[in-house]
Amino acid sequence: MEFIRIDAWPPPEPVDYRPQLEAGNVLFFPKTPFPFPEESQQFLRQLNFAGGAIHKNIAYRPAQDKVTGFPADSGKMDRLRYIMREYSQAVVQFMAELFPQYAAAWKLDYASFRPVEEENRNLPVNKRNDLIHTDAFPSRPTNGDLILRVFTNIHPVKTRNWITTDPFRLIAGQYATGAGLREIAASSDSVSGWMRRQSARVLHGLGLPVVPRSPYDRFMLHFHEYLKRNAGFQQNCPKYRFNFPPGSTWLAFTDLVPHSVHSGQHALEQTFIIARQSMADPANAPVAILERICGKPLIPASTPKPSRHPAA
Ligand SMILES: [Fe+2]
Repeated sequence: MEFIRIDAWPPPEPVDYRPQLEAGNVLFFPKTPFPFPEESQQFLRQLNFAGGAIHKNIAYRPAQDKVTGFPADSGKMDRLRYIMREYSQAVVQFMAELFPQYAAAWKLDYASFRPVEEENRNLPVNKRNDLIHTDAFPSRPTNGDLILRVFTNIHPVKTRNWITTDPFRLIAGQYATGAGLREIAASSDSVSGWMRRQSARVLHGLGLPVVPRSPYDRFMLHFHEYLKRNAGFQQNCPKYRFNFPPGSTWLAFTDLVPHSVHSGQHALEQTFIIARQSMADPANAPVAILERICGKPLIPASTPKPSRHPAA
């Protein structure tokens, strides 16, 4: 895999970076290629000192213009929401210029601010960021679409240090069968699997916190933790290190690029769900790779495609 550096933005001629991204590379902009004012960055950095109120990420839901993970009565909420909206909108505009083909069908997901130093965090294994993993969202299955994330390091002096490994195509080829892919795939055409999905859909429709998941989403959620708990994989996989400097922005399909973060503080992030059909080559989607390995469909024909509207 490669960290592909892009110094000039906008480029003199349009460039289609989809093939490089879909091959499992990271696009890296040493200078953040969209406006985000220094005073907004300062406000976010200073939130760390708000009486220890921050325990986790601050999330922003663009569709609802809503911030979670920060006390609503802090007196800072209006400004915080304004800044998260400002970041989200700047990223969306930049990404629509960089990837017009994706933008035609993408679904805008959450943004987040990560205020906590990543080094020596005391987290349970499945939440640890320093173990190499592929992303999957427990509450928001993608049904075979992809997770594209844009990150910005707003720390004034510290780099944000990542370690990645070979792209999903190679890692899945080596580990997916051992992780139980065939067993999960077998449920895609079983009566019990169909019944489980139907009942989950009914309960979800009644407002209960049950998420109907395709076999693909079940596998990806499982694989996330399987890789984190696999000491042999963590120790022996090839490792590619990259330290993202202050003021830089980078982006990757975080389900295609196994990654970990080892140190760094004050990162912003915006997630997009990219429709598989808008890829330069949909055969490179994780779901297509897994279906080739197990020889079975992982998205049942009855699974409704997610809406192309922003996340609710
Ligand atoms: Fe991740």
